[in-house]
Amino acid sequence: MRQSVTFTELGPAEFRPAINRFIAVYRAAMNPPERMLAGREAILERHAANPGFRALTAAAGPVLAGFTYGFHGAPGQWWHDMVAGALALSSAPGASAWLTDSFEVAELHVLPAYQGGGIGRELLLLLTSGRPEATAVLSTADIESRARRLYRRVGFTDLLTAFRFSGGDPPYAVMGAMLPLRSVAAPMTEAPCSPRPSSW
Ligand SMILES: CC(C)(COP(=O)(O)OP(=O)(O)OC[C@H]1O[C@@H](n2cnc3c(N)ncnc32)[C@H](O)[C@@H]1OP(=O)(O)O)[C@@H](O)C(=O)NCCC(=O)NCCS
Repeated sequence: MRQSVTFTELGPAEFRPAINRFIAVYRAAMNPPERMLAGREAILERHAANPGFRALTAAAGPVLAGFTYGFHGAPGQWWHDMVAGALALSSAPGASAWLTDSFEVAELHVLPAYQGGGIGRELLLLLTSGRPEATAVLSTADIESRARRLYRRVGFTDLLTAFRFSGGDPPYAVMGAMLPLRSVAAPMTEAPCSPRPSSW
């Protein structure tokens, strides 16, 4: 890691007052269309109430360089139900089992100036470490991106590809990994942040 970075775990009570700072990091990292920002604050508020919520920040001095959060996946959550429905239709054996006892990685973002130095990887490993769930699941744009490479490197594989959460959204890959994640870099042997509608 190039700079000194402090990682801090936040519970819901500490996460909520800082939501606008997290949205600013998300905006800088993803450069999303305006429609993806609408209702975002309310979505993060709602997520903070989900069971097993855990968040982490990465601070470089006074700068919030990155953050991540996730929670226990459960029926009734929009992402969980969308993915469960698609996995149930999937021909892959045991596909539905990925969500039986899962931790959903909802967001992971690092400011552009701080990307590529190991912060994202460390946030992801800390977020999932010691979790009681059997699996971690997430969705990411279905393209070869830095995020996709990072997820594969720590053990995620594709569960669904070219998946559309809604007609207007780009295709997503849904990925899953057994917990704990792989913290030691492994060679890439395999071939080869989720849409959040304001209604969620
Ligand atoms: C995806 C994202 C969170 C990853 O965070 P990051 O801090 O940039 O990622 P890391 O530095 O941990 O790993 C990325 C790269 O740095 C390299 N790296 C990891 N640890 C390193 C270290 N200690 N020293 C130097 N380089 C390192 C990795 O090899 C990797 O290389 P790659 O880009 O060729 O794959 C971040 O790039 C980001 O916010 N991107 C835009 C938003 C986004 O896509 N979010 C995810 C949505 S699902």
